[in-house]
Amino acid sequence: MLHLTLRQLRVFNAVASELSFSRAAGKLHLTQPAVSMQIKQLEENIGLPLFEQIGKKIYLTEPGREFQRYCNTILQQLQEAETMFADFKDMSGKLTICVASTASYFTPRLLADFCKRYPKAQVSLNVTNRETLLRRLENNEVDMTIMGRPPEDLDLEATPFMENPLVIIAPPDHPLAQARSIPLARLAQETFLVREQGSGTRIAMERFFAERGIRLTTGTEMSTNEAIKQAVQAGMGLGILSMHTVALELETARLVVLDVQGFPIQRYWYVVHRKGKRLSRVAQAFKDYLLGMVKHHALAESPRPQDELAY
Ligand code: PGA
Repeated sequence: MLHLTLRQLRVFNAVASELSFSRAAGKLHLTQPAVSMQIKQLEENIGLPLFEQIGKKIYLTEPGREFQRYCNTILQQLQEAETMFADFKDMSGKLTICVASTASYFTPRLLADFCKRYPKAQVSLNVTNRETLLRRLENNEVDMTIMGRPPEDLDLEATPFMENPLVIIAPPDHPLAQARSIPLARLAQETFLVREQGSGTRIAMERFFAERGIRLTTGTEMSTNEAIKQAVQAGMGLGILSMHTVALELETARLVVLDVQGFPIQRYWYVVHRKGKRLSRVAQAFKDYLLGMVKHHALAESPRPQDELAY
């Protein structure tokens, strides 16, 4: 029978993720000797070393790595239980969501509205790229994510709730700014600034043009929508971005949307969580809130997100 305390699990978890006794101590607001002592006692109880020191660095041993998986599950379950009790008391549980960088343009407004309805909910919002989002979902580190269509081979439940049109933006003095119904082939003469590899916007754009047999000239790669907007304004090229990211620039006439045949590229925002995940009451309320938006957005229009044509 193992004799472990929750405190030891928390200390182990911090050392295992930081791979440093001093950083773990800082994170837990403990002294380094206190952390070392907890680990020593834990290893004595288990009868196996969980860490090994090589040079100045520490590493997890094989049983240490295995134990880390159990430890994550136990601590996550405890966190869920805590949220469950808080939710039952007054919906004051935690909601941890992670969104794609493009979704950060509208998520805070949605959260503000949601928090008016559930003022005690403790919301944490993390913004990152698509690849990290998928990893967080896989590791069960978040309740849910807001992102473009996730890959189908993962065990995820994904529901579309809002349209995400991708448009071509140009500076107002661009020769094509006033043109109507620009043929797609004409774009081959332009240079495009593109988002980084792994961006959902980039993936959709590449697929759209590849399917139509058009080779775009791509200029500098930039890892944020903001950088692309600035570069387009400065005349470095055209950009393809979500309409959600350019509202302000269109309003103030710093950028224009080109009228190109076949545009906008129709993408959708999905709320995504692991299949079978037991959502806390706060998390379920947020999901319901997002899905309630379907009614306010024209998701019924073609193409439907499930269609081959949708990106
Ligand atoms: P981003 O957008 O990864 O390009 O920021 C998300 C998506 O459209 O899937």
